[in-house]
Amino acid sequence: MSAGQPDRYAVAGNPVEHSQSPFIHAEFARQTGQALDYGRLLCPLAAFAATLRAFAADRSAGAVRGCNVTVPFKFEAFALAARHTPRALRAQACNTLRFDPEAEGGWLADNTDGIGLVRDIEANAGVALAGKRVLLIGAGGAAAGALGPLLEARPAVLVVANRTVAKAEELVARHADLAGGCALAARAPREAGERFDVVINATASSLQGAQVPVDSAVLAPGALALDMMYGPAAQGFIAWAEAHGARGRDGLGMLVEQAAEAFFLWRGVRPETAPVLAALRARLAAKVR
Ligand code: ATR
Repeated sequence: MSAGQPDRYAVAGNPVEHSQSPFIHAEFARQTGQALDYGRLLCPLAAFAATLRAFAADRSAGAVRGCNVTVPFKFEAFALAARHTPRALRAQACNTLRFDPEAEGGWLADNTDGIGLVRDIEANAGVALAGKRVLLIGAGGAAAGALGPLLEARPAVLVVANRTVAKAEELVARHADLAGGCALAARAPREAGERFDVVINATASSLQGAQVPVDSAVLAPGALALDMMYGPAAQGFIAWAEAHGARGRDGLGMLVEQAAEAFFLWRGVRPETAPVLAALRARLAAKVR
């Protein structure tokens, strides 16, 4: 029975045990007075759809209203949904599902990663993207979610640099109509160009302990260099950036901001992110000690 019980949400992925999303959403719920439970849903690699459908149909406690989707299911989640927001359509990937009743159109797929990144850069790191030179490294799911919202922030130049150049070219072609006055281009990492104000690492290279795939000439003095990862996975890129005069930043702010946008989609209430980001940083620092 669901009457009177808190609505339920979860982060669906594989792995999910280290996800910070349950902490973030519990903080948002407390702050806004929303009654909800947010857990973890470990999905077997070959049974994402079945696991998600069973979760959505579960009537053993409060009503299941939605979920976040993480690696490696963002494309599959996109394909499962009946409806898509414009930004999810642009990304062709989904990190947020809202389980609306069939009568209201069924599952809605959104992608809040890119808007979360832009808010972190502009509001938290204090860098207005309008008129700036921006380099986005990578052309996988993470980069696909970011490109549309980055273009909407009106940079002067946006280069997508990827090891497999054809993937960068495809991503750029899919976003060409959003470019407006922005010089949007796809390049190989070693030919990315020079002196970017904002450099975003959306590759899995740091996770594999591989070298940063671009030359340090991409960094303008004092540039903001942001890795979408956090914790040890982001450290290689941040250390590289700081060794070359840039300001390093991890993906924790983006994580909290994308969560806030998902919370808004589900609950219609926009939580304050700054205290939750501070609490999350303190929590992770305490774990490391
Ligand atoms: P995600 O959803 O995290 O973006 P993905 O879709 O598998 O994951 O994309 C991974 C990205 O990291 C791709 O841009 C990939 O480059 P390729 O398209 O050439 O495969 C990039 N990547 C992974 N390992 C890398 C490495 N060692 N050096 C440079 N780029 C790497």
